[in-house]
Amino acid sequence: MTKHCAGKNAVVIGGTHGMGRATAEKLIEAGARVLLTGRDARNVDKARAELGPRATVLQSNVAEVHEIDALAHALRETMAPVHALFVFAAIAEFQPFGEVSEGSYDRHFAINTKGAFFTVQRLAPCIADEGSITLTTVTPANAMPGMSVYLGTKAAVGAFVRGFAVELLPRRIRVNALAPGFIDTPTLGLAGLTPGQRAEVAAIGDAVTPMQRHGTMEEVARAALFLGFDATFTTGVELAVDGGLSTVAGPR
Ligand SMILES: NC(=O)c1ccc[n+]([C@@H]2O[C@H](COP(=O)([O-])OP(=O)(O)OC[C@H]3O[C@@H](n4cnc5c(N)ncnc54)[C@H](OP(=O)(O)O)[C@@H]3O)[C@@H](O)[C@H]2O)c1
Repeated sequence: MTKHCAGKNAVVIGGTHGMGRATAEKLIEAGARVLLTGRDARNVDKARAELGPRATVLQSNVAEVHEIDALAHALRETMAPVHALFVFAAIAEFQPFGEVSEGSYDRHFAINTKGAFFTVQRLAPCIADEGSITLTTVTPANAMPGMSVYLGTKAAVGAFVRGFAVELLPRRIRVNALAPGFIDTPTLGLAGLTPGQRAEVAAIGDAVTPMQRHGTMEEVARAALFLGFDATFTTGVELAVDGGLSTVAGPR
């Protein structure tokens, strides 16, 4: 395999598990030098033990701007310039909108939206001219119940993509987003699922997705590397990685 990211530096925010982790591993495989982050200390330790010297793993909470600033400082000291920044960190606690508490609303927006905004704002000076930023939204398919706050957080991120893309044109930094559908990650993107709920969500995903299955983390990682390194005439877009969920009818 050609190491087509050899000599490149990549940062994965929310890379300790799930599609961020799969992307980090694909970047390592492609020859990039990788730094990844997560919030939970146990998950950070586990990722560090599993990846060993192949990647740098740091604990950093995107909801705390001072922690993003500390990360920017660490990057300037050890890794800059960053050629590709990937932001996967987010939470989703699905609830009917009538039951959403102010605390849950604030938590979602602090991590998914404010976290994405200030990660890009504070890390942008570390990014190489002609580099890339890839955020994560969600498929623009029909909404399902319980998603109102989560969808609101991700709609804002979709708008940030276009706003950042235009402001970073002078530095020729491309800004795009992955918009996943149902992807088979350890959390399925949802906080605190019981095994029964997980099976239920998985069955719905398989049934409603036109390709009749979940996407794999490997498939998202390939799309991430495409946006990060190969899509050199693409900026300001959200790329659906959703088995046709937002675009085509399923088999009858
Ligand atoms: N899975 C799906 O089907 C699906 C569908 C559509 C969109 N998405 C989106 O795709 C992205 C990745 O999904 P996933 O299923 O791979 O998620 P995941 O397995 O839950 O992983 C999320 C990553 O973000 C980190 N993270 C969470 N809160 C953080 C915080 N405050 N600061 C820093 N890191 C934080 C997690 O680390 P800790 O555990 O340490 O917090 C983990 O490394 C998310 O943006 C999600 O909303 C997922």
